[in-house]
Amino acid sequence: MKRAILIAVLAAFLGMGCSTQPVKTVWLDEMDLSTMETGWGSNHVKKSVDRNPLTINGTVYERGVGTHAISKYMVDLGGKGRRFMATVGVDDEVKGKASLEFFVLGDKKILWQSGIMTDTTAALPVDIDIRGVKKLALLVTDGGDNINFDHANWADARFEIRGDTILALPQAVAGEPYILTPPVGDAPRINGPSVTGATPGRPFMYKIPVTGKRPMTIIAANLPAGLSMDPATGVITGKVKQEGEYLVDVRAKNEAGEAARTLKIIIGKHKLALTPPMGWNSWNNWACAVDQEKVKASADAMVSHGLIEHGWCYINIDDCWQSSERTKAGELLPNEKFPDIKGLADHVHSLGLKIGIYSSPGPTTCAGYPGSYKFELRDAQTWANWGMDYIKYDWCGYSRVVEDNTLEAYQKPYRVMREALDRVDRDIVYSLCQYGMKDVSAWGAEVGGDLWRTTGDIGDSWNSLSSIGFAQDKNSPYAGPSAWNDPDMLVLGYVGWGASLSPTRLTPDEQYSHISLWSLLAAPLLLGCDMERLDDFTLNLITNDEVIAVNQDALGKQAVPLVREDGMEVWVKELEDGSKAAGVFYTGSSNTDPVEMFNWDEGKTSRKITVDLAALGFAGKCTVRDLWRQQELGAFTGTFDTEVPFHGVTLVKITATE
Ligand code: GAL
Repeated sequence: MKRAILIAVLAAFLGMGCSTQPVKTVWLDEMDLSTMETGWGSNHVKKSVDRNPLTINGTVYERGVGTHAISKYMVDLGGKGRRFMATVGVDDEVKGKASLEFFVLGDKKILWQSGIMTDTTAALPVDIDIRGVKKLALLVTDGGDNINFDHANWADARFEIRGDTILALPQAVAGEPYILTPPVGDAPRINGPSVTGATPGRPFMYKIPVTGKRPMTIIAANLPAGLSMDPATGVITGKVKQEGEYLVDVRAKNEAGEAARTLKIIIGKHKLALTPPMGWNSWNNWACAVDQEKVKASADAMVSHGLIEHGWCYINIDDCWQSSERTKAGELLPNEKFPDIKGLADHVHSLGLKIGIYSSPGPTTCAGYPGSYKFELRDAQTWANWGMDYIKYDWCGYSRVVEDNTLEAYQKPYRVMREALDRVDRDIVYSLCQYGMKDVSAWGAEVGGDLWRTTGDIGDSWNSLSSIGFAQDKNSPYAGPSAWNDPDMLVLGYVGWGASLSPTRLTPDEQYSHISLWSLLAAPLLLGCDMERLDDFTLNLITNDEVIAVNQDALGKQAVPLVREDGMEVWVKELEDGSKAAGVFYTGSSNTDPVEMFNWDEGKTSRKITVDLAALGFAGKCTVRDLWRQQELGAFTGTFDTEVPFHGVTLVKITATE
C-alpha cells in the first residue's frame, strides 16, 4: 500500500513537470518552423514577414519570428514545458491596416489571448505557465475581418522546458500521391466550355480542345461569316462583324471513333471570359525571376503535356517584365529579360494559346516597375500591338495616388483602363487585382472587369487555401459569365515565388480539395507552377475533364455552402443541365473557433460523412457520379455516405431522376 502511494506521488511529481532535468530555454526562432503555417508570404526567423527587423511600436526585437495571419504552429511538449514567454504585436511595416489576434493554446484550451491588436496597440507581454501541457499551439487569427496586412510578430518568443528539444507537430500527414482520374481514351472527346465570345469586328481566336488519338480531323459546321477553322488543330480564327449568337456543330473523328458537340459563339460587347479563364501565370512560380525563355517554355509545355486539349489556354506574364524607364515618348518597354515580347506573343498564338500581361493603375507595380498611371491608353495600345489577350491590373502603387477613401476613388482607375481597352482594336480580358477592397465583387462587373481578385495573395498551405477558399460564399451572388470572383491562383506542382522552386506544401488530399473547390467556385484556374516539371499526380489533377467541366459550366454559377458543421462543409454548384456539382469537404477544423482550428488528435485520417440530399435540394431519387473517378456511385434517395480523407474531398455530380 505504502509503495503504491509512493509511486502515485512520484508519478504526480513527474507529471507536473518537476523532473530532475535542468530547466533549459528553447527559443522559437531556433525551432523547426517548417510546419508553422502562415496565411501569406513566408515566416522569417528574427525578421518580419516582409523581412524587416522585427519592430513593434518603434521597438526593435533581436529575436523571434515574423509571421502572417492566419498563422498556426503546434508543438509536442509532452508535459515537459514550464513557461512560455514572448512579446507580441503587429509589425510596424503595415501602418494603419492590420487587425489580428494572438492566442496560445494548450491541450484544447485557450491559455492566453491578446484581444484584437492593430498597429497602434502597444506590444503585449506573454508569460504563461505551461506545466503539464502536452500539445501547445501558437495561433494568430485575422481578428474576424480578413488577413490583409496582418503581419504578426512573436518577438522574443521562448519556452522554458525540462528536456532537450521540442518537436513540431504537422497538422496533416502528407501520405503518398494517388491518382483517381482514369487515363484519357483513344476515341475523340471534345472538351472545353460550350460557349465562347468576342467583340464584333475584333480578331477572334478559339482553339477547340479535343483529346484522343492523333491524327484527328476536326470539323466545325455553321461557323459565322468571317471565321474559319484549321481541321488539324481545331483553332478557329477570323473576325465576325455581325453581333449575334451562333451555334456551331463541332465534330471530331479519328480511327478510334467520333464525337460531336455544339459550341455557342456569342459576338457582342463585353462577351469575353464567358467561362472562367484557364491557363498559367508566372507569379507563384518564378515571380521576378521570370524571363522570356521561361514563358516560352511554359507555353510549349502546355502543348506537349496535352493540357491545351483540356481547355488550358492562357500564358500570363505577371510583374517584372517591364523596363524601369519609359521611352521619351512615354512608351512602356519590356526589360532585357524579354528581348522580343512581340515574337513571344506570336509564338504563343502559333501554338493555339493566348497570352496575358500585367500592370498597375499606380505609378509603380508591386515590384517597383513602372505602372500605367497617366499612360493608360498608351499602354493598352502597346499591349494590343504586341497581341496581348489578357491584362492583370494590380492596385499596388495606386495606394500612393488614390484621391480619397471613397468607393468612387477606388473604382476610378479601373474605369479609366476599361475605357482605354475599349478604344483599342483587340479583345483583352480584364482582370482586376485589388485584393477584395471595398467589396469589389459587388462592382467589379460595373466597372467593366471580367474577373477580380477577392483576397490577398495565396500561399501553398492548407491554412491559406482553406481560409481563402471557404470564405468565398459572400461573393457567390456576383459571379456569372464575364464576371468571376478570383480567389487567386493555383498552388499545385513546383512553386516558389522566385528562382528556386519546390513541390507545393499541400498534401495530395489538400490538392484534390484545391482543384475541387476552385472548380465549384467557378474561379479562374491559373496554374502557378513550373510547367516543365509536371508529374503524373499533378497532371491527373488538372486534366480531369469532368472536374474541369464543373468550372467551365456555361451557367456560370458559383457554389454555395449548403451544409457547414463540425469540420465538414458541402458546397453545391448549379449546372446548366439542371444537375448540381457538390463537394463534400472534411476540413477537420473550424476557421473561427481557435481551439477547433487545430488538429489535436492523431490519426485523423478520414471520416464517413452522410450527405443529406434534401439539404442539397434533392427531394426524390437521384444518381450520384464521382467526378474524380469518373464513375457512377448509383441511385440514392434521402442520403448518401462517403468516406472523405482529412483535408480532402468527395466531388460528385448529382442528377435528379424523379
Ligand atoms: C501582388 C499580387 C500578386 C502578384 C504581385 C506582383 O499584389 O497580388 O498576385 O501579381 O503583386 O508583384
